[in-house]
Amino acid sequence: MTFLLRRAVWARGAGAYPFCRFIFLYSVHSSVAGTMDLGSMRKKYREDQEAFEENQLASLDPIKQFTTWLQEAIDCPSIGEANAMCLATSTRDGKPSARIVLLKGVGQEGFRFFTNYDSRKGKELAFNPWASIAFYWEPLNRQVRIEGQVEKVSEEESEHYFHSRPKCSQIGAAVSRQSEVIPDREYLRKRKIELEQLYQNKEIPKPESWGGYTLKPDVIEFWQGQTNRLHDRIVFRRLQEEDAPPEPMMHCAEGGWVYQRLSP
Ligand SMILES: Cc1cc2nc3c(=O)[nH]c(=O)nc-3n(C[C@H](O)[C@H](O)[C@H](O)COP(=O)(O)O)c2cc1C
Repeated sequence: MTFLLRRAVWARGAGAYPFCRFIFLYSVHSSVAGTMDLGSMRKKYREDQEAFEENQLASLDPIKQFTTWLQEAIDCPSIGEANAMCLATSTRDGKPSARIVLLKGVGQEGFRFFTNYDSRKGKELAFNPWASIAFYWEPLNRQVRIEGQVEKVSEEESEHYFHSRPKCSQIGAAVSRQSEVIPDREYLRKRKIELEQLYQNKEIPKPESWGGYTLKPDVIEFWQGQTNRLHDRIVFRRLQEEDAPPEPMMHCAEGGWVYQRLSP
């Protein structure tokens, strides 16, 4: 905000002195404060009678539970992109990075998304296949967190999905060497026009580096917010062979999963 106001002072010039002075003082004041204080931003979530109890699980299969919540998010008119999710990856030496991508399929095999294998996330996943996904459906006061390892989807499936996209999206994927530095936007415009002419009456080949991943979940946590901050957290874990015997507050779920309630 400070930066924008300083630009306004500069843009209006000396003729607008009183206005500038006001803006300048405001600018100094907010930069002295240093940080933008958001301490009072607080929203009401749900009341106790709307708590998410174990007997409200739509299924003891966490994938089915997820698809139930996803469908409710899709049906919620104030959620624009219910399938938008934050994907976190990490370098080999543990430096994390996160970005939004779109979920393009979910089933027992896992959570599917498409991207560029040579992008930053693609390079990180090549070294370290462990990834984490988070959905936040704000109007429903719900979050879902998922952890697991990714695998590339088959070339045929990536081809199939690539060609099912609108032509402009296919061109966009062909134009973009995702995450690489480019000189300016004009570079993209020119490249787009070149490719549009080249593939005017032809199928656009899927770039080799473009394709899908499936995140195979080991952990899926369902969170629902409470106004009193005693939020609900029910976490499902896939039992691994090497796991210790079930813990006291662990419950059997379906398909080799167990679940527990976590403190908020
Ligand atoms: C709503 C939304 C949806 C997005 N969907 C995708 C997607 O499905 N795949 C993708 O590669 N990038 C998608 N992006 C762009 C990514 O957030 C990111 O900028 C890009 O993948 C490069 O990330 P990286 O440099 O960390 O690899 C989306 C961004 C937003 C805001």
